[in-house]
Amino acid sequence: MTPSQPDWLPVCQLDELVAAGAVEFRLPCGSPGFVLARPRAPQAFLNHCPHLGLELNWLPGQFMDVDRCFIQCATHGALFNPDSGLCIAGPCQGDRLQSLDTKVDGKQVLVAPLKT
Ligand code: FES
Repeated sequence: MTPSQPDWLPVCQLDELVAAGAVEFRLPCGSPGFVLARPRAPQAFLNHCPHLGLELNWLPGQFMDVDRCFIQCATHGALFNPDSGLCIAGPCQGDRLQSLDTKVDGKQVLVAPLKT
């Protein structure tokens, strides 16, 4: 018998994500997260900077830099690769955002539970 796995969390509709570019959500444990529309598949991260634990976004649902190439910390301007979460510039350069697995079921975007 395998232990029961926590359920995947439905966070938004795929067309909503594509239109918005990013959607915020909160995991059952209370941690904030966000999912980005990416060319290959939605990409989700915890909304915690690796160096101070602050939430990254400028405004609700606004995570990307002006060129929409990188996730940008609104407080420090640090830049993160939107596919890997790797910080490429800023005070936490070399660290990563914690990614969360995603899947699309029909038109629903779901995020995996945190790995413990
Ligand atoms: S909180 Fe870490 S770069 Fe801004």
